[in-house]
Amino acid sequence: MDAEFSWNKEGLLRAVDLMGGNHVGHGMKDIPTHMPEVGIGSIETLGLLAEVVLGGAAHLDSPSAFAHMDPPTPWVTWAATLWNASLNQNLLHPATAPTAREIESRVIDWFVPAFGMSGGHMTPGCSIANLTALWAARECAGVTQVIASDSAHLSIAKAAHILGLRFETVPTDATGRLDSDMLPADMSRAALVLTAGTTSSGAIDPLALAGRAAWTHVDAAWAGPLRLSTHAALLDGIEFADSVAISAHKWLFQPKESAMILFRDVVKANKAISFGGAYLAVPNVGVQGSHGAVATPLLATVLAWGRQGIAERIEKCMAFANRFAEFVQKQKQLRLYATPASGIVVWRPVDPEVFDAMLSRLPSGSVSTTTISGERWFRNVAANPMTDVGLLIDGVEQCLATTSSRYDDSK
Ligand SMILES: Cc1ncc(COP(=O)(O)O)c(C=O)c1O
Repeated sequence: MDAEFSWNKEGLLRAVDLMGGNHVGHGMKDIPTHMPEVGIGSIETLGLLAEVVLGGAAHLDSPSAFAHMDPPTPWVTWAATLWNASLNQNLLHPATAPTAREIESRVIDWFVPAFGMSGGHMTPGCSIANLTALWAARECAGVTQVIASDSAHLSIAKAAHILGLRFETVPTDATGRLDSDMLPADMSRAALVLTAGTTSSGAIDPLALAGRAAWTHVDAAWAGPLRLSTHAALLDGIEFADSVAISAHKWLFQPKESAMILFRDVVKANKAISFGGAYLAVPNVGVQGSHGAVATPLLATVLAWGRQGIAERIEKCMAFANRFAEFVQKQKQLRLYATPASGIVVWRPVDPEVFDAMLSRLPSGSVSTTTISGERWFRNVAANPMTDVGLLIDGVEQCLATTSSRYDDSK
């Protein structure tokens, strides 16, 4: 018996205790640069790592966190992830994951109706979900080309490259949506990728275009979960897609790496993207071989909160974004890129000279930046239901007060 592999209440409680503390990170200075020959022991390791891992992390649950697509995660997912790590199920084979495979298919079954799909599977992120979708498109619909807007996520170009498909971009309109008038007339050999929630600005492409190409894939990595909320109608048309990708580690508040690829005809799609093997009891579907039980924390979250609990938190986030956008719109020194479509606010000072000064003064973690058509913009992403929008508003007001003389001079 090797005690290192056994349930250790003292050690696990120590880990949980450390999670509750305040830790100040000192970077990696206490971690050896070469592989240690002799270990320091597991309890000692927890003490050392608390400063490095817990102390050195970005605080995605902070009231000022309003910048990235990365949400805080509910504690029930921490517990489920701990169980996952101890059980180490491998969903490649039913013998090594008897119930975990059923959990994944049950969770997928819960999500598919909202998107008009019939089934699918979990992936470690939407880059892999998009790759899987375009792989199915190539096999099932014989597509030779991928068409997406110039604001589509880089994973679409990457997937086209990996699959040997020609990649063509279509311009976006002034609000960041794919411009339908610029689509080629003939899409009979094309996979059309529509984005529901672009990475830069959260724009939702015209989903009414679903069905116009040999295959339509909706990359709903960010905005997909809106379908569970009172904002569901923003994604109308998604049900006519052939495939839909959704990141659970974004607006479903899941620990990384968690996403799903859904298919309208899952039987046909799975047949096209499955491989058998002498040592496998069931075909291996999709890109990954061995893979873990990422659906378990998601199952726990939905059981704990219900659809309603997820929807309420997303709706809160949408309200934060709308409140901040309304504030921006009222300031004559600021410009709003567009009315936020899906909880992402893109804005900038009218005077580009004050951009960097503002960036350095705004609360840490409260904004990110993006470049659209060669112009730099601030970007807020409402992924944290505990954001205090007032903190950013105060910060911006202070910046505007200190730079207002500059604006007055320029009049
Ligand atoms: C629209 C969109 N698609 C795909 C992705 C890639 O997802 P992941 O980072 O989960 O691979 C992202 C990531 O931000 C995204 O915003």
